[in-house]
Amino acid sequence: MIEVREFRPEDVDSVSEIVQATLGEFYPRSLYLEKSRQWLDGFMVALNDGRIMAMIMGVLEGRAESRVLMLAVSAPYRHRGIGSRLMADFIRKSAMHGIGRITLEVRKSNIGALRFYSRLGFQISGVLPMYYSDMEDGFRMVKVL
Ligand SMILES: CC(C)(COP(=O)(O)OP(=O)(O)OC[C@H]1O[C@@H](n2cnc3c(N)ncnc32)[C@H](O)[C@@H]1OP(=O)(O)O)[C@@H](O)C(=O)NCCC(=O)NCCS
Repeated sequence: MIEVREFRPEDVDSVSEIVQATLGEFYPRSLYLEKSRQWLDGFMVALNDGRIMAMIMGVLEGRAESRVLMLAVSAPYRHRGIGSRLMADFIRKSAMHGIGRITLEVRKSNIGALRFYSRLGFQISGVLPMYYSDMEDGFRMVKVL
């Protein structure tokens, strides 16, 4: 059974592990706790039998925009609709908040994620040269609500 709920402070280690394994990035626990305080609606986890295996974290950028900072589904759980479900919840919560557009960044080489976001109605709105720490370019994507 998959359950989706808002992030709780006790989730921080599981979330950090998934981000490290999936996105290859390590962030201090304080980052997750700070973001959850800023906009809890935009920070959700998905659980299978009580174990966290996916997360989405976003922020508000002013009154009209929300931005997805991280979306990660543990490898064994991909292609089951969990990423889509987290994004759908994020889109719904953004709309309830009166947000007009959702933005995110994705690596140019991440063809799977680019197709995933396109299917959800995101469009490439710009190139971000050397956006990532390893100098890879990024695409900015936007979905107008
Ligand atoms: C990108 C990512 C979040 C997608 O999560 P996911 O849970 O696999 O997404 P979904 O299952 O909802 O959709 C993925 C694909 O599975 C397909 N799918 C969805 N449910 C399915 C099911 N029940 N059976 C088979 N396929 C299914 C979808 O059609 C989709 O296909 P597409 O990508 O060709 O359009 C995930 O692959 C991931 O964490 N990747 C690594 C981290 C990453 O790249 N994050 C984004 C950085 S910007």
